[in-house]
Amino acid sequence: MTGVGNRRNLRINLDRLLGRLEELGRVGALEGGGVCRLALTDEDRRGRDLVVGWMKELGLSLSIDRIGNVVGVRAGTEDGLPVVAGSHIDTVATGGIYDGCLGVLAGLEAVAVLNEAGIKTQRPLAVAFFTNEEGARFAPDMMGSAVSQGVLDLDEALAVSGIDDTIVADDLAAIGYVGEARAGDFRAHCYVELHVEQGPVLDKAGETIGAVTGVQGIYWTEFKITGTSNHAGTTPMQNRHDAGYVAASVAVQAREIAEREGGNQVANAGFLRLHPGLVNVVAGEATVTIDFRNTDVKVLKRATEELIEFAERAAAEEGCEIAVHPHARFDPVEFDPGMVALVEKTARGAGHSVRRMHSGAGHDAQMFAANCPTAMIFVPSEHGVSHNITEHTAPEDIRAGADVLLQVLLEKAGEV
Ligand code: GLV
Ligand code: MN
Ligand code: MN
Repeated sequence: MTGVGNRRNLRINLDRLLGRLEELGRVGALEGGGVCRLALTDEDRRGRDLVVGWMKELGLSLSIDRIGNVVGVRAGTEDGLPVVAGSHIDTVATGGIYDGCLGVLAGLEAVAVLNEAGIKTQRPLAVAFFTNEEGARFAPDMMGSAVSQGVLDLDEALAVSGIDDTIVADDLAAIGYVGEARAGDFRAHCYVELHVEQGPVLDKAGETIGAVTGVQGIYWTEFKITGTSNHAGTTPMQNRHDAGYVAASVAVQAREIAEREGGNQVANAGFLRLHPGLVNVVAGEATVTIDFRNTDVKVLKRATEELIEFAERAAAEEGCEIAVHPHARFDPVEFDPGMVALVEKTARGAGHSVRRMHSGAGHDAQMFAANCPTAMIFVPSEHGVSHNITEHTAPEDIRAGADVLLQVLLEKAGEV
């Protein structure tokens, strides 16, 4: 039996993996670096087509579900649920080339290595990418994986209207990714996601691998305020119904709440739009979004409730109407201890420094955690920067993470 020896010697092909990351990164490339492949845009379609082409070249059987999630399966010697490596290939508007894409393309690299080595696995092995993980254009984030795992209703997701007022169902059809597979009951034997950390912890500590123990909770709320637009010079202050003023005070209050709560509580007002948005017109309409996150769900809920009460009061005092939309309500998730231990052991066995850590970013993995043993592998993000065109991870760290992914997949799928 050559299995054990083969396994020990198996290594990913770094040049091929980096080549694919760079090629995908050219789809929707931004001047000065980075990439814009917002979900369900033409750039997303072109990125999907490229990755689907690679999946076919590797001999994977493709299935696309009704929310556009794409799964490529490499058959096992036995039927049954697949061991899944997944992530996403959509980006924020100012994204880097690693966020999400690394997990998908490292999964493909693992398949390529197994194909070349002629290694069969007992269980099927699947590589998947999920629609609209970022949530930057259509909320919530992790939309495709949430639908896939029965966390979000398909019809509800398809009806979502985005920041440019288009509808998920229409844009999914326009890019040609409405699949035939049912959405909501895709199940995995286990799920593993390699991802860049997107924060400073590993980089600062000079460590190579994060064995991720869980993901903090994510509560997104959109506030739409309606006041009265009027002349900025002639309208006395006490007569104003300034939607922009209310939106700005919500943004400031969110920050103050996070600072007061302390601990792991963070807040971001990442989207603020005023209408008509002119220097000399009081804003008649304003939209602001708040992203609150915390590992402690009680504090997360308290912060969100406090902010909503504040916003309603601020709108009333200014004589404005307010509509509050809870766009994402994802509680903190803990990953399977056995899977976390396997990631840690595999990484240590390969001679890497390892840290157990929580994820600050949201990931498709958190949608799988309730349905199957799930784990994530983090590699460092230089200077802790992500959702930024300068996002970078050193090639040697990519190699380390992808090798750990390969070994974990092989362990779970069972070499025959
Ligand atoms: C999604 O990637 C998020 O963490 O915002
Ligand atoms: Mn990501
Ligand atoms: Mn992201």
